[in-house]
Amino acid sequence: MSKTKLPLVIVSHTLPESWLAPLGDRGRLLIGPETTEISGLAPELREQLDQVEGLLTILTVPVDEELLDRAPKLRVVSNMAVGVDNIDLEACTLRGIPVGHTPGVLTEGTADLSMALLLAVARKLPQASQDARQGRWTTWEPAGWLGADLDGTTLGIVGLGKIGTAVAERAKGFGLRLVYANSSPRPEVEASLGATRLSLDELLSQSDFVSLHVPLTAGTRHLMNERTLRLMKPSAILINVARGSVVDSRALYQALREGWIAAAGLDVTDPEPLSADDPLYALPNCLIVPHIGSATANTRRRMAELACENLLAGLEGRKLPHCANPRVYDRP
Ligand code: DGY
Repeated sequence: MSKTKLPLVIVSHTLPESWLAPLGDRGRLLIGPETTEISGLAPELREQLDQVEGLLTILTVPVDEELLDRAPKLRVVSNMAVGVDNIDLEACTLRGIPVGHTPGVLTEGTADLSMALLLAVARKLPQASQDARQGRWTTWEPAGWLGADLDGTTLGIVGLGKIGTAVAERAKGFGLRLVYANSSPRPEVEASLGATRLSLDELLSQSDFVSLHVPLTAGTRHLMNERTLRLMKPSAILINVARGSVVDSRALYQALREGWIAAAGLDVTDPEPLSADDPLYALPNCLIVPHIGSATANTRRRMAELACENLLAGLEGRKLPHCANPRVYDRP
């Protein structure tokens, strides 16, 4: 095919070259700036939307009606993430545009990070490390840096999908009792890990640790709010590796400040990025990391691989291997 006949593909941000190698010469690639320069779609890429046939995005790029209106030739959107809350799925479906995402490959890495946050907060690693660096380690302190036990305590998993289940598997090894809240029962996890299904309210009031693993939807936005945070034990720790808006940040701030709960570990915040002067950072009982759940070299490379596979399938008119809006294929 002559170069000009190749479909125009916009890759919203610069990614390591080798990650995009599978796209090879299958499209005319227009690659956006570094992620640190701009989070949405850069203006110079927007100008080309009227010609674009394939769009590879990261999770900071909103794909909404406005963008879709400007892209009449668009045939596939491929998000390099498992979450697709940055994309108006309904609008894509109505226009017959399949949306790809990257489930599976980030399950283990994200579950590892959940446990890392849980352990770090439970054992006060940030405070202890800072104290050591700043000369406050003057002796072995019998009553210093006392954290919380995991063994024999209860972990409540909210959302027992792939990542929630991988967290449950890890937590079992630490001797935690497992309870979960999920839209449907998971008998196989109950049988293999001894997890018990509870309502969200029951889970919150019984758990020593609560780990969030639900996708962000209209129904889960601010799932953790003043009412639900107040149901948690004052000694409990909240972990969020899902999406920032699943938690009402203002209510969380109050909860941490006023001791409704003991501490939180957040991989995701609302908004993202969280500005350096956000009051949450000033709380010693809140550990925040910058959305790094899937940030291992191997995981990110595999996410890019899946994103390329989805994109190519869409361009070639094949079903996407990982489609977030499969209803698109039911259309006449
Ligand atoms: C995703 O893929 O949705 C994750 O949040 C990325 O870390």
